[in-house]
Order: sequence, then structure tokens, then C-alpha cells
Amino acid sequence: MKNIVLFASGSGSNAENIALFFRDNPDVEISYILSNRSNAGVLERAKNLNIRTFVFDRKMFLETDEVLSLLKKSDPDLIVLAGFLWLIPEKMVKAFPDKIINIHPALLPQYGGKGMYGDRVHQAVIDNDEKESGITIHYVNEKYDEGDIIFQGKCAVEKGDTPETLAQKVHLLEYEHFPRVIQQLLENQ
Ligand code: GAR
Repeated sequence: MKNIVLFASGSGSNAENIALFFRDNPDVEISYILSNRSNAGVLERAKNLNIRTFVFDRKMFLETDEVLSLLKKSDPDLIVLAGFLWLIPEKMVKAFPDKIINIHPALLPQYGGKGMYGDRVHQAVIDNDEKESGITIHYVNEKYDEGDIIFQGKCAVEKGDTPETLAQKVHLLEYEHFPRVIQQLLENQ
């Protein structure tokens, strides 16, 4: 049995899509969805999917070992950041080498780094008149958005695109590829 722990800060549509993808797979379990926001939409989705949740604040995350202990106890094969906006502390990265992955809504190494998330990313892509954007799935290291790239998918940025319309295209790419890439990584372990 493979075991995934998800981290999400927001709406959680990717987390839900991943959970639905693996729902009928007896060999893969989503053991937890962890969030840093007690009012995050992902928590409602987790409840509907019958997945355990755990909510933490910045102090707990950075100054205690509570989240790290929970992860160690869960013994995940993969830790998946699906719209999680905080930097992962070094001790967590070290405890799970090559087991933490993130999805970013642009083509890294461009448009990444601290503060680059959600619509801010799409606005910057549009402001710079890019013709393409997309998604990057990558391993997580101690720096924002800098770990080794696993997969990239592209979409066109068209005249008239707004952060909202670009976000929709990017989300479609995420829904199509993220679960599939996770499945491949689990199969190759
Ligand atoms: C996704 O587009 C993901 O790529 C992005 O947050 C969104 C979460 O949407 N992640 C980042 O910006 C990380 N820097 P969701 O909550 O609906 O899954």
C-alpha cells in the first residue's frame, strides 16, 4: 500500500482531484490532508472525501516538531504540496529526501519564488507578454520553487487572457497531469 500526504492552503481543487483519481485504487491511500488555514476550502473537500485533516499555524509548523512527527508516523511514500504556500522547513526536507513534490502554476525557473502564487503568477506572465505558460511539478528543496523539475506542461497565453482565464487553463493542465505524475512516481519507487 502506497501512502500519500497532501498539503494545501486554499480551495483544494487539486487535492480533491488527486483524491478522486486514487479513490478506486486499493494500492494507494491519501492518509492526511494538512493545511495551514483553518478556513481553507480544502478542509470541507477533505471532509466530504472522508480524509483525515490536520491544521497547524506558523508557530507550530516552524517552532515545534508536531507536523514532522505526524508525517513520520504516517510514513508517507510521497508528500504532495497541492497549492501550499509556505516554505517547507529544512528539517522536513531532510527527513523526506526526494519524497516531497510541489506543483507551480507557471514554467519554472521563471515566475517562481517567494510571494509568487496563484493570480500573482498569472498577472506577471500576462504583464510580460509571454506567449506560453503552464505548470511545473518539481521536487521540493529548502528554497521556493527551485528543486529538480519532474514534469512541465504548457498552454498558450492569448490576447485578452486575464489572470482568471489563464488560471483556468493552468488548472486544467494540473488536473490532467498531476495525479498521473504522482502515480508514475509511486510506481517507480
Ligand atoms: C494551483 O494552481 C497551484 O499550482 C498553485 O495554487 C493553486 C491551488 O489551487 N500553487 C502555487 O501557486 C504554489 N506557489 P487549488 O487550491 O484549487 O488546488
